[in-house]
Amino acid sequence: MKATILGTGSALPEKIVSNDDIAQYVDTSDEWIRQRTGIVTRHIATSETATSLCEDAARNALENANVNPEDIDLIVVSTVSSEYRFPSCACILQERLGNKKAMTFDIVVGCAGCVYGLDIADSFIKSGKVKHALVVGVEIISKLVDWADRRTCVLFGDGAGAYVLGASEDDSVGIQGIMSRGLGENGMSLTMKDRPIDNPWHKEDDIKDYLYMDGQAVFKFACRKVPESIKEVLNPLGLTPDDIDKFFLHQANYRIIETVAKMMKQPLEKFPTNMDKVGNISAASVPRIMDEYNRQGLLKKGEKYILCGFGAGLTYATACVIWEKD
Ligand code: COA
Repeated sequence: MKATILGTGSALPEKIVSNDDIAQYVDTSDEWIRQRTGIVTRHIATSETATSLCEDAARNALENANVNPEDIDLIVVSTVSSEYRFPSCACILQERLGNKKAMTFDIVVGCAGCVYGLDIADSFIKSGKVKHALVVGVEIISKLVDWADRRTCVLFGDGAGAYVLGASEDDSVGIQGIMSRGLGENGMSLTMKDRPIDNPWHKEDDIKDYLYMDGQAVFKFACRKVPESIKEVLNPLGLTPDDIDKFFLHQANYRIIETVAKMMKQPLEKFPTNMDKVGNISAASVPRIMDEYNRQGLLKKGEKYILCGFGAGLTYATACVIWEKD
C-alpha cells in the first residue's frame, strides 16, 4: 500500500507588497533583493489570519481531491505563527471543516513542515490506521519579523498550502520514498524566542524578540543537505536525479535552487520557482508551488517529483512522489 496525494490547495493574503514598497521603510533596494534572492513581490496579511488561510487552503485541497471533510482521519498543521498557542491550528481547522473524527495536531518544523507532515501522514496511512489525511502548512511570518531589519523582512511572505492524502493499493503511484531529519546542532542559526518567564518568583527581561537568521549558515546548510537528502531518498528506489521530472524545492532563494541544480547536474527548467511572486512562505512553500502547477494542468500522471523542504530546527525533509491524478 502507498500513500498518494489526492489533491492540493493554497491561499494567499490579498495585499501584495513589492520590493520598492519595503524600500520605503528600510535601507534596501529592489535591485539588491532581486539579485540576492529572486524575490520581487510577496503577499502580506492584513485582515487574514493563520487559521483563515489554513481553512481556505484546506478547503481548496479537499475540493481538488474530491474528499469530504468528514472523511479525514488525520489533520497535521505545520505552523509557528498561529494566532493561538492552543488550541492547535489543526483543532481549529477541524472545527471549521465540521470534522468530528480526525486525530489533530500541529508541528513546529518551520519551512520543512509540509514535507515532514507528508512523512507523518505516509506512516499513518501505510499502518492502516488512517485512510485520508490532511496536511497543511501555514505561516504569517510577517508578524514574526522585525520590519526594521532589512536582513530578514525582505525575504518572507505569508500564505498557506495543503495536501489531501489517501491510501492506494497501486504501489506504482504515490509516495515512493520519504525522509525527515533534524540537525539540532545548527539550530541557533534560525531562531525566534518565546515570551519570557514572568511569575511572582522570577521575572526575565521582557525584550520583544523577532525572527533571527544567520542567512549564510542556512544557505550553506541547504546547499549541502538538499542534494544529500535527494540521493538518500532516490538510491533505495534505484532512481537517479535524471529520472526525476520536476524538483519542487522550498522557495527560499533562487541562488539555492541554482546551486542545487548545478550540484546535481540537472537543468534549471526542472526546478519550478515562484519566489519572485510570493517570497519565502515557509511551510506553505512546497504545497503552494505544487498547487500552482496542479491547477495549470502541469502535473502529469506517472511523472516523478521530488518535494524538498528545509529550515528552522534546523530540519529538512525530502519525498519522491509518482503523480497519480489525471
Ligand atoms: N538590502 C540591502 N543590503 C542588505 C540587505 C537588504 N535587504 N540585507 C543584507 N544586506 C547587506 C548586509 O548588511 C551586508 O552588508 P555588509 O557587507 O556591508 O555588511 C551585505 O548585504 C551582504 O549580506 P549577506 O548576509 O552576506 O548577504 P547574502 O548574499 O548572504 O544574502 C540572504 C543574504 C539572507 C539572502 C541569503 O544568505 C539567504 O538566502 N540565506 C538562506 C536563507 C534560507 O534559505 N532560509 C530558509 C529557511 S527559512
